[in-house]
Amino acid sequence: MKGRERTKRGSHADTLIDGERFEQTGATVELRMRRARASEYPILWGATLQTAWDDLPEDERKRLDRRRWEAHFRKKIEPYFEGNRTEKYMAEGASGEFLGYLVLGESGFLTPETHAFIYDIWVVPEHRGKGVGKSLVEWAGEWARKRGHRKIKLEVAETNARARHVYESLGFRAERRYMGRILE
Ligand SMILES: CC(C)(COP(=O)(O)OP(=O)(O)OC[C@H]1O[C@@H](n2cnc3c(N)ncnc32)[C@H](O)[C@@H]1OP(=O)(O)O)[C@@H](O)C(=O)NCCC(=O)NCCS
Repeated sequence: MKGRERTKRGSHADTLIDGERFEQTGATVELRMRRARASEYPILWGATLQTAWDDLPEDERKRLDRRRWEAHFRKKIEPYFEGNRTEKYMAEGASGEFLGYLVLGESGFLTPETHAFIYDIWVVPEHRGKGVGKSLVEWAGEWARKRGHRKIKLEVAETNARARHVYESLGFRAERRYMGRILE
């Protein structure tokens, strides 16, 4: 871990990164970021499965059995969660309270260049709406810059209005659309 390093970027970030602390200019959210322990993975699994389930298209979700879907989806994302394709960070507040987590990694498919990728972001329900989500996204951007990436990407459900607002307000823009049409 490097010492405390202060960087100022644009209007939002006045960040202490790798010093396990984050401050957002004009906001009061202070995050202490640390790697998740393997014993904490069940927390990440539970929240991720819930988010993915909530974000399924309505017409598909109503045809699925939750338990069977979970078994299927777990297998799909296991390499990202249990292997070392991603880095998992827990966010804690000033008094050590658990605020949320980030699952970060790389992704590249269309071009030879890889981009940083936010595989998952989650804030404890009682801490939502206080700027934690935005601060986590900012922290992810700093994490990516430190690794030499020039872009950070993510995927979000069209129906997840809160998450979309968080990303758009921090400069993320839709680049492709994943489209579906129900065939009667
Ligand atoms: C998405 C999530 C990470 C945001 O975290 P958060 O701590 O609530 O985010 P913040 O407090 O930083 O910001 C919330 C913003 O959304 C806005 N918002 C809240 N509900 C909204 C809604 N239904 N539609 C649009 N914007 C909404 C708030 O006004 C606030 O914006 P503002 O600061 O510009 O006023 C959190 O809601 C979460 O964990 N959701 C479940 C998991 C999830 O959906 N993850 C994303 C997967 S892609």
